[in-house]
Amino acid sequence: MITAVNCEGNGLSSAMQEINDRLAQQGVFGPGSPELALYEQRLTRFFEREFRRHQGNPQSLDALGISTADGPVMEDTGELMESHYDERPEFFAAFLDRHYRAYSMAWYGDSADEVHASTVTLEQAQRDKFALIAGRAGIQGDERVLNIGCGFGSLETFLLEEYPDIQVTGITPSKVQIEFLQQRMRDPADVMSSGRFRLIAGEFDPQSLEQIGLASYELVTSIGVIEHVRNMKLLLECIAQTLVPGGRSFHHFITSQAPIPQFLDPAKTRISLYFPGGRVWPHGEFLQHTERFEPEGSWFVNGMNYWRTLDEWHQRYWNGLTSLYGPVFDAQVVAHWNEYFSLCKAVFAPMDGSFYGNSHYLLRLRGS
Ligand SMILES: C[S@@+](CC[C@H](N)C(=O)[O-])C[C@H]1O[C@@H](n2cnc3c(N)ncnc32)[C@H](O)[C@@H]1O
Repeated sequence: MITAVNCEGNGLSSAMQEINDRLAQQGVFGPGSPELALYEQRLTRFFEREFRRHQGNPQSLDALGISTADGPVMEDTGELMESHYDERPEFFAAFLDRHYRAYSMAWYGDSADEVHASTVTLEQAQRDKFALIAGRAGIQGDERVLNIGCGFGSLETFLLEEYPDIQVTGITPSKVQIEFLQQRMRDPADVMSSGRFRLIAGEFDPQSLEQIGLASYELVTSIGVIEHVRNMKLLLECIAQTLVPGGRSFHHFITSQAPIPQFLDPAKTRISLYFPGGRVWPHGEFLQHTERFEPEGSWFVNGMNYWRTLDEWHQRYWNGLTSLYGPVFDAQVVAHWNEYFSLCKAVFAPMDGSFYGNSHYLLRLRGS
C-alpha cells in the first residue's frame, strides 16, 4: 500500500523531525537512528559470517561451474537502466558529490584506519580517487581516452579539467545520463563543451565498436562498470580492438577476496533488485582473460572507502528528502532507497573492508 507522508508548512529542522517521525511510524528509519544502526549491524554480521564461510574458496570460478567467457558482454541492460540508471536526475543529484557527480567509490585512504581518520569532503575524496586512478593508469595528458560506462561524466570532468590536451569519449546507454551530458556539452562554461569530449549513446558491445572507433585510443577505462559484465573475455576482446598498438586499459570495479557462489547469481541476490544482472567478481577473475594483454598492475582498494562513500550518499539522500520529493511523498519509495544504501554499506563493512572492496587493473595490449 502506498502511504503518503505530508510535511507541509514547517520550518526546515522541524520539518525534518516530522519526516523522521512519520517515516518511523511506517517502519522506515533513517541514518542516525538507533533502529537503522541496529539493522545495519545485523546485516553486516550476516555478510561477515558468509565471507568467513567462503574465504578459503579457490579464486577460479571454473570449480563453481561459473563461466565469464560466454554470452553477451553485459546482460539485462534495458532492465538495469529502467530500474536504476534512468531514475530521474534529481534523485542522483540529491546525494552524489556536486562537482563530478561520480557514481562510484570515493577514495579516503589505504587502510580502514585512514578512511575513518580522513576529514576530507566527498567532493575532495572523489577527486582523490580520480587522481589515484590517473597515477596508476600512467596518464600522460595527451591520450585519446575511451571511458566505458561514463555515468554523468565524472572521470571526463576530472581529465578535461586536469589535462588541456586530453580527448575523452564516453559511452553510456542511460537516457538520463545522455540528456544530462548533452546539456553540459551545450553549456559554454562547462569543460564538457570544450570540443574534447565525444558522447556515444549506447551499449559497449561488438556491434558498437565501429562507431566507437577501431584502433583509435591510447587508453580505455571503466569505473564501476564491470559489476554489470557477464562475459569478461568478450569485453577484453572488444577493448583490444579499440586500442592502438601498445595501448593501455585501466579498470576499477567492486571485487571480493574469494568467490561467494550465491552472490554470483543475479537471480538470487537482493542487490539485483537494484542492479539487475549485477555481480561481484572475485579479485583474481579478471586476470584469467588477459590473453590479448600484458597485466602491468593490480591493486585491491579497502572496502571501507566504499562504506564511507555510501554513508555520505545515504545521509545526503535522507537530508534532501523534501527537496527531492516535495512536501508529499511515498514512504515506500524512501524505504526502497534507504534499504539500498544500508545493504550496500553492509557488504563493505565486514572484516574492516578487507574482504569486499574495489580492484584496479592496468593492462597493456600485447604484440606491439
Ligand atoms: C556505477 S555507474 C558508474 C558511472 C561512472 N563511471 C562513474 O564512476 O561515475 C555504471 C555505468 O555503467 C553504465 N553501463 C551499464 N551497462 C552498460 C552497457 N551495457 N554499456 C555501457 N555502459 C553501461 C551505466 O549507464 C553507468 O553509466
